[in-house]
Amino acid sequence: MRRACGTAAVAVCGGISFLSTGCSTVPFVNPVSVDGGFLIPLEVFTNKPSVIIKRILAPSIVVHRSDSGDYTALLMRCTHKACRPMVFEYSLDCPCHGSRFDFDGRVLAGPAQTDLESFPVSLDGEGNLLISLQQ
Ligand code: FES
Repeated sequence: MRRACGTAAVAVCGGISFLSTGCSTVPFVNPVSVDGGFLIPLEVFTNKPSVIIKRILAPSIVVHRSDSGDYTALLMRCTHKACRPMVFEYSLDCPCHGSRFDFDGRVLAGPAQTDLESFPVSLDGEGNLLISLQQ
C-alpha cells in the first residue's frame, strides 16, 4: 500500500537544507535561487532518485534522476484539474481522479490527456543541477 508523506526532520547538506518526509520516500529540498531558476546539489540524489522543491506561490517541482543518470524536473500540477500528484517509485499519481505520469511527465493513465509541464535541467559543472524556469 502506498501512502502520503508528512514532514519529519531537517538536515543540511552543502549549505542547502533538506526536509525529510515522514515515510522517507521523497525528501524536500530548499534550493538556491539563481537568475531564472534554482540550483540543487547533485548529492541530494545520493540515496533518493527524486526530490521535491517546494515553492510558496507556485506548485512544487519534482526533480528526478533516472537509472541512466538523466534528470527531469516536472511541475507537480496535474494537467486534468490541477491537483497535486503524489510521487512514487515509478510514477507520479494524482489522488483526485487517478491520472498517472512517468518521470518524463508523460501521461500513463487518464483522465489527464496532457503531459506534465517540464523544465529544462542542466549541470553547472560544479556539482549542481540547474533547473531553469524559463522555457
Ligand atoms: Fe488529476 Fe483529475 S486532477 S486526475
